[in-house]
Amino acid sequence: MIPRHVAIIMDGNGRWAIRRLLPRTAGHRAGMQRMTELVREIFSRGVEYCTLFALSAENLQRPREELDALYALFSEYFDREAARLKEGDISVRAIGDLSLLPETVSESVRAAEEMTAGGEKKLAVALAYGGRQDLVAACNRAVAKGEEVTPETFASMLSTGGMPEVDLLIRTGKEKRLSNFLLFEAAYAELWFSDKLFPDFTARDLDRALAEYARRERRFGNI
Ligand code: FPP
Repeated sequence: MIPRHVAIIMDGNGRWAIRRLLPRTAGHRAGMQRMTELVREIFSRGVEYCTLFALSAENLQRPREELDALYALFSEYFDREAARLKEGDISVRAIGDLSLLPETVSESVRAAEEMTAGGEKKLAVALAYGGRQDLVAACNRAVAKGEEVTPETFASMLSTGGMPEVDLLIRTGKEKRLSNFLLFEAAYAELWFSDKLFPDFTARDLDRALAEYARRERRFGNI
């Protein structure tokens, strides 16, 4: 079985660079190249939805220079890849609090969202995203509407609204934690942790994760 929705925590760019005596930002550029390739590979396997964790709300505490380099990469990615994503029938959207990012980034994101709208396959890039923050925002929306929610209507109020729940969650970079990513959406996700640093995580590693997923028995609490 191919998972419908794959989410990836792209961790380890900084360590990848430090091991090569390069600035951390070189690791992020290598990560962007890897991400570009993986997006193509993931959808070519039949996955319909993919969510990538690029920047957490908590990452915003990092030094200014690193954040500025990341913002430049984000704009570069959305400006450069939008046409290719459209060609691949992939619609892209950003999730997270874009108001915390420079306007140059949100403008690139909006342009790419507009250009790729309607694509059959769905890519979400989490920027300035926090799972708890997203849950609280959804709760506040429900309260403002004065409506009682169900798990389904609540899910539609999250920034991932419209996407099915996560089937497979991959984290690269050796750490084994969720780091405030998709807390509601990944409730029954199968977890796959790779020791590889993100720039080293290849299509073969992705295939290993997909093969392991296919072997897992998902019971959703049943027997
Ligand atoms: C985590 O590694 C990675 C990030 C905070 C940035 C992720 C960014 C990319 C993959 C590059 C491009 C993204 C887009 C959307 C174009 P880390 O810096 O925490 O690594 P470390 O744990 O080794 O320090």
